Amino acid sequence: MSDAAKLFSRHFGEASEAVVARAPGRVNLIGEHTDYNEGFVLPTIIDRYVEVVVRRRPDRHVRIVAADTGEREENDLDQPIDYSNSRWLPYVLGVVHELEQRGRITFGVDVVFRGDVPLGAGLASPAALEVATALAVDAVFNLWLNPIDMALLCRDVEHRYAGLRCGIMDQYASRLGRSDHALLIDCRSLEGRHVPINLDRHRLVIVDSGVRRILVDTSYNERRSECEEAVAVLRTADPTLTALRDLTPELLATCERQMAPNVLARCRHVMAENQRVLEACERLAANDLPAVGRLMNVSRLSLRDDYEVSYPALDRLVEEASRVDGVLGARVAGAGFGGCTVNLVAEEALTELERRLQPLVEDWSRQVIVVDKPEAAKVMEVIA
Ligand code: GLA
Repeated sequence: MSDAAKLFSRHFGEASEAVVARAPGRVNLIGEHTDYNEGFVLPTIIDRYVEVVVRRRPDRHVRIVAADTGEREENDLDQPIDYSNSRWLPYVLGVVHELEQRGRITFGVDVVFRGDVPLGAGLASPAALEVATALAVDAVFNLWLNPIDMALLCRDVEHRYAGLRCGIMDQYASRLGRSDHALLIDCRSLEGRHVPINLDRHRLVIVDSGVRRILVDTSYNERRSECEEAVAVLRTADPTLTALRDLTPELLATCERQMAPNVLARCRHVMAENQRVLEACERLAANDLPAVGRLMNVSRLSLRDDYEVSYPALDRLVEEASRVDGVLGARVAGAGFGGCTVNLVAEEALTELERRLQPLVEDWSRQVIVVDKPEAAKVMEVIA
């Protein structure tokens, strides 16, 4: 019996006909808060996963166990759902309910999940949980959802059940990411291009600040509203514009006096960040890591000053890292407000980076992930 089968049978007895699926977390190289503005992003998946085991039930009951904490929830597909006390329930049960609402499943499931994507750290743990759940339920009921539809479904789950009006990046990356590649996502057309990453003698170092947040409790939704406010103003001058993706410097200059300073600053960030993503993608493909690093640094300042999603502990981590020779780029990863930084570091600078950051990081071995080869072991197996 595999480990996952043992885990499942410990909680629910017989594991035959259960399916186990895994989905990875991601770190975003560049392109922050551009996805819900229909722009571009460049994430890569990491070697941290959520694993979900699902078995079909003969009735409409749903039982879920979070194996890492021992928490347990029960629900019926016909019952209203109370998500208020759980950090993970909206993501797991949300996927099941959403599939039922869409008429794709009529039976309940037993679910056990576990994972090592740190929660609330900017590495897309909710998306990994949603996608792994969707993959397993899809396999159990033979739904054959196409990968992009699955990512969209998971994003909708986040909107409807967790209240976060996120973009598509995290779910798309978790579902479609590939090892050794970054993924350039056009969040308007939903096309994705896998761009090989050759880190050569460099590493991506992800440093967890230890500051945890649940995005729905931050100003994330407010940032999205500010972007929508900007679009409403810009459309008075150019009705063809539908999202900040379409913004040009000329149009911004025409409309800037009609905008509040914070809204104007959000526009500046999104417009420039989209260009940086495209440039970073070209530079990455040309193996020009110093140029990628410079773009990461500019992105970081823009996120701090114009988008205002940084946090003092993250700023300190990034500033210290930037002082080390051989750190090509350093920035806040993901939505901000806490979580991780991502650093592009020459191999020979790793020791010095650790020396500098140690005093700011409580538990180095637990809080730091060094990526030399972006991974993907999106295993799906049927436990027999
Ligand atoms: C979170 C959201 C994403 C994206 C990032 C910021 O991770 O889930 O959709 O908006 O923040 O880039």
